[in-house]
Amino acid sequence: MEELLICGGRRLCGVSRIPGAKNAALPLMAASLMAESPVTLLNCPDLLDTARMEGLLSGLGCRLTRAPRALTVDAASARAADMPTALAGAMRGSLFLLGPLLSRFGRAELTPPGGCPIGKRPVDYHLRALEELGARVAYRPDGRVEVTASRLTGRELRLPYPSVGATENLMMAACRAEGTTVLENAAREPEILDLQALLNEMGARITGGGTTRLVIEGVKQLSGCEHRIIPDRIIAGSLLAAAAATRGEITLRGVEANHLAEPLRYLRQAGCYVERSGDALWLRCDVLRGLGTITTGPYPAFPTDLQAPFCALAATARGETQIVETVFEDRFHHLPELVKMGAQIARVENRVFLTGGELHGAAVEARDLRGGMALVLAALAARGESRIVGLAHIDRGYESVDNVFSALGACISRKEN
Ligand code: UD1
Repeated sequence: MEELLICGGRRLCGVSRIPGAKNAALPLMAASLMAESPVTLLNCPDLLDTARMEGLLSGLGCRLTRAPRALTVDAASARAADMPTALAGAMRGSLFLLGPLLSRFGRAELTPPGGCPIGKRPVDYHLRALEELGARVAYRPDGRVEVTASRLTGRELRLPYPSVGATENLMMAACRAEGTTVLENAAREPEILDLQALLNEMGARITGGGTTRLVIEGVKQLSGCEHRIIPDRIIAGSLLAAAAATRGEITLRGVEANHLAEPLRYLRQAGCYVERSGDALWLRCDVLRGLGTITTGPYPAFPTDLQAPFCALAATARGETQIVETVFEDRFHHLPELVKMGAQIARVENRVFLTGGELHGAAVEARDLRGGMALVLAALAARGESRIVGLAHIDRGYESVDNVFSALGACISRKEN
């Protein structure tokens, strides 16, 4: 089993370039399946999750070409096929293939999707909305779900909650449906705007991205294009939090500061100096006060994906922080591990109360992606040595985390034990 060894207590200093966003890349890769000529995705990250999506697309007959920072998907020879259970089951992102498969082949079979164990994470919004567009949903005794549609017909829909994945699936399913689909209570995350941009470059007619109302006019055909994926706001936020937790100084390049408005507001409020210049963001932290009350929520509220890293940050602050998680009901696996490192934490339902102080190294286990990053952050700030196992979770969303932090002056290495 691999583990990360971290000797904490060093200030992180230096420059880091932000890769393309995993959460944008996965739906964009899936959308490529609908184009009849090649789609090239620039700034495409190379992660465990993107590799799994590449595996799924290959299995469906797409031809893929990988360059270090670009991926070309040629779906001309794609064919209707079932997704390999093991791959699809390992990754929640496989759910994004539902809309494109239905749109292109009229049939999709869904294996209960994997991903992080952070709550119940049902797929009912996806399925109910597809049914409203005319799809038939059949639940098999083995847990698989078969979705079929000889044609999809546009209509007015309203999501019960602005789910990111359901919004994306519907955009993809509706863009080749007959007529116009209006989606109310849509998610407004930057990744939605990126998907709208790609689909429109492919020939779709979608407006309203970034608002709660999307209008999708069905078109007959989609074709290839070249598209640059937006920077990963969660990696950027995690690196800023790491620099602040070690009272360091960091410059991020290739970042979109507008996507980080809420995290930056809390960092500034707690005493960090932050400046933006073009696509660069600079942060220095000498003293960190408590962060106040942070409540996660759908964009533009504070992102749930930064809840765990900010718990680790708050555990190092001089003062109190309260974090309220409103998106996922079970996203707290990092808390007992942070306590092993000396963090003072109390939790009442979805509220976490943190009193900052000095952390010490410990042997801990990552149990989900963002919670894993929280442990890395805490270990970087802690006195002494930490060992972190469960790296497969972290590798799903962060490219060579050891190299990124080594380059910033951390004492971190990956070992097989
Ligand atoms: C996406 C992100 C994930 C992020 C989350 C919220 C990707 C690959 N993942 O996940 O990193 O944490 O948005 O910003 O982009 N829900 C239902 N039924 C459904 C769908 C969702 O009840 O059919 C619930 C979920 O359980 C959750 C809430 O809605 O409580 C939000 O989930 P959603 O926005 O769909 O998250 P994902 O798209 O899975």
